[in-house]
Amino acid sequence: MASNLAPIPELYVSYESAQKLKAEAGNLASHDLTPRQICDLELLMNGGFNPLKGFLTEEDYDSVVETMRTKDGALWPMPVTLDVSEKFADTVELGQDIALRDQEGVILATMTVTDKWVPNKSREAEKVFGADDLAHPAVNYLHNHAGAVYLGGPITGIQQPVHYDFRARRDTPNELRAYFRKMGWRKIVAFQTRNPLHRAHQELTFRAAKEAQAKLLIHPVVGMTKPGDVDHFTRVRCYEAVLDKYPSSTTHLSLLNLAMRMAGPREALWHAIIRKNHGLTHFIVGRDHAGPGKNSQGEDFYGPYDAQELVRQHQEEVGIEMVDFKHMVYVQEKAQYYPIDEVPEGATVLNISGTELRRRLAEGLEIPEWFSFPEVVKELRRTKPPRAKQGFTVFFTGFSGSGKSTIANALMVKLMEMGGRPVTLLDGDIVRKNLSSELGFSKEHRDLNIRRIGYVASEITKNGGIAICAPIAPYAATRRAVREDVENFGAFIEVHVATSIEECEKRDRKGLYKLAREGKIKEFTGISDPYDVPENPELRVETEGTDVDNCAHQVILKLEQMGLIAG
Ligand code: PPS
Repeated sequence: MASNLAPIPELYVSYESAQKLKAEAGNLASHDLTPRQICDLELLMNGGFNPLKGFLTEEDYDSVVETMRTKDGALWPMPVTLDVSEKFADTVELGQDIALRDQEGVILATMTVTDKWVPNKSREAEKVFGADDLAHPAVNYLHNHAGAVYLGGPITGIQQPVHYDFRARRDTPNELRAYFRKMGWRKIVAFQTRNPLHRAHQELTFRAAKEAQAKLLIHPVVGMTKPGDVDHFTRVRCYEAVLDKYPSSTTHLSLLNLAMRMAGPREALWHAIIRKNHGLTHFIVGRDHAGPGKNSQGEDFYGPYDAQELVRQHQEEVGIEMVDFKHMVYVQEKAQYYPIDEVPEGATVLNISGTELRRRLAEGLEIPEWFSFPEVVKELRRTKPPRAKQGFTVFFTGFSGSGKSTIANALMVKLMEMGGRPVTLLDGDIVRKNLSSELGFSKEHRDLNIRRIGYVASEITKNGGIAICAPIAPYAATRRAVREDVENFGAFIEVHVATSIEECEKRDRKGLYKLAREGKIKEFTGISDPYDVPENPELRVETEGTDVDNCAHQVILKLEQMGLIAG
């Protein structure tokens, strides 16, 4: 049997042993895996991360970070680490077994902890991702989401993570190998993607299969991709929609539950190893493979063909052949796609970038047939309706008595008069009564209060409604966190109601400033508690000398300008 078709080792124990182990593991200290760790664990257990036998030990980690190899010399470019909180790490002794649970508490595996250490995250960022720059999604994850301590050690697999979606389209490495065996496929080229397939991708995959004289595996990532990407549910519907444009006898679609790191060259090499483990003989690497976008200086993190270069250097050792491609563009006169370096001289080249595609979707503009398939565009429009039909959040912030609630109320009425989308007002006082009645005004409580408002607003936005929030929200970091929550689903419009503290105190509509001055109310914003003035709000309204109607109208104009309501 060809080596790519023979079964690959997995880390699972037999069904009987798993039942026994599961019962015993109930008594172990247990770690609740993050979504990223669940993806990593699945590929560790099913052989996708072969030759790894568990989360990296400290020695392996150091070696992988510095040399892209484990301490035994196996090529492995990506740290696969189990990050945990200091609190949990303190409870774990070396040599101890721990249970690894999914987010519902199901035990998926046990791990014998052989190593526990505090990693140098800046070094990891520099070496693995090329820069310690938070604009890189994996560096941001490393510093702002990953736990402070890493645990390492071998895994004993009990069961696969459960997936309720697209079950028939998910294959383990051994399932794919068995499929290739059954079909008699010897040479198979994999196409890795985290985007919907448009015509350029189809052309590229056709060419790659022809060039390699191989069958084609469309192998999209459905674990975690770049923040802001089209969600995998939509993407898989898009893939299914174009599948009949491929010859069914030579093409297969399979979903890969990988958590990408967007690490460009190192990631491309990692992808190649993972594909080798899935029984592939060839692997397509195009322009800017697994690129994370721009760094904080506005420049690309990696060169457009750095990934190809690194895979080329190691393809023989990995045992998979790279099929490299230049950027594909549409040549109008020929009504055909060409790699950019093969475009006939003087020809008209057409190209729609990812940013331009998002703009056209957001504004409901035409997406030409030379660019994509009508079925794909229809799916994308279903998920991303034009901005004027999406949900959004207007977030007022300002001192107590600045006029936030009054303007928010006026805005709500104006939006309700227009109709079309449900409007919810999350005024400071209403929220404190209904959602946060147990909270006071310490920093911790204010943060909790604002995060709750942010959560509700993001749910409303996700479901196509309009949320109007009007808390004081004095801290910039908390406002930024709420913005991030909401922007996953729609626009966030921060409106600073810039009434001065002197004016608010002069108005003192609720008599609270007087009490604050007398020390009868503690931690009063602007008097005895800080307020971070928003630096770049979408809108700043001055209420002194302007009536409420006019202030609300300024917000309406802003919403029109942003395309969120019809002009
Ligand atoms: S925060 O900081 O965003 O959680 O505050 P918020 O939920 O908007 O609540 C502010 C309203 O509570 C009243 N109040 C105080 N405000 C500020 N500091 C202190 N210590 C305080 N104690 C009570 C005040 O009336 C605020 O109402 P608004 O509507 O802003 O005038």
